Amino acid sequence: MNFSIRPTTLADNDAIEPILKASYSTLLQGFYDADTLARAVPIMSKAQPDLLTSGTYYAATIDEKIVACGGWTLAVPGTKKVQDASIAHIRHVATHPDHLRKGLAKAIMTHCFDAAQAIGVTQFSCFSSLAAVAFYESVGFRAGEQKTVSFAPDLPFPMVVMTRDL
Ligand SMILES: CC(C)(COP(=O)(O)OP(=O)(O)OC[C@H]1O[C@@H](n2cnc3c(N)ncnc32)[C@H](O)[C@@H]1OP(=O)(O)O)[C@@H](O)C(=O)NCCC(=O)NCCS
Repeated sequence: MNFSIRPTTLADNDAIEPILKASYSTLLQGFYDADTLARAVPIMSKAQPDLLTSGTYYAATIDEKIVACGGWTLAVPGTKKVQDASIAHIRHVATHPDHLRKGLAKAIMTHCFDAAQAIGVTQFSCFSSLAAVAFYESVGFRAGEQKTVSFAPDLPFPMVVMTRDL
């Protein structure tokens, strides 16, 4: 499969959001109830300007069209704070449903591991959707406890804490 991986910029916002939306709305079905997805997907699918300009959030492209995305930060998700500079956090990973199982997300993960290792990161942490646990296990993460995050006050959303040593 001929694809490239590059860091995103703010200009990618309008290409990234439809991928997040298509991926989450389609691929999380069966793992969360329909009401939860109807409310959570619009919130989860918003591209985050801080991530797009972080230099550590990547787009996978085929013929220059973005088909998958994902990245990492030292800042803990939902905050701008770095609690431990040896731990990187996986952020907003999604592949468009038309491009699954081509190795795109795996290649983005490899990119994340290499870049983070170069600045002294020794562990990755991830809040995985219930749908993505098998994917993260396939790239070396171990599943830990299930945690419920809240995208809104009455919108509990179970996720799995996963970790991987570098
Ligand atoms: C999880 C996701 C990003 C994987 O994307 P992808 O580009 O299809 O993944 P890859 O092709 O790189 O898969 C690499 C390996 O992961 C494993 N894997 C990927 N998807 C899997 C699935 N649905 N079930 C079981 N294993 C899976 C396989 O071992 C696969 O290797 P193989 O195809 O040779 O068997 C994609 O399914 C997705 O967007 N899911 C919905 C969004 C989501 O939950 N994102 C995570 C947010 S925390």
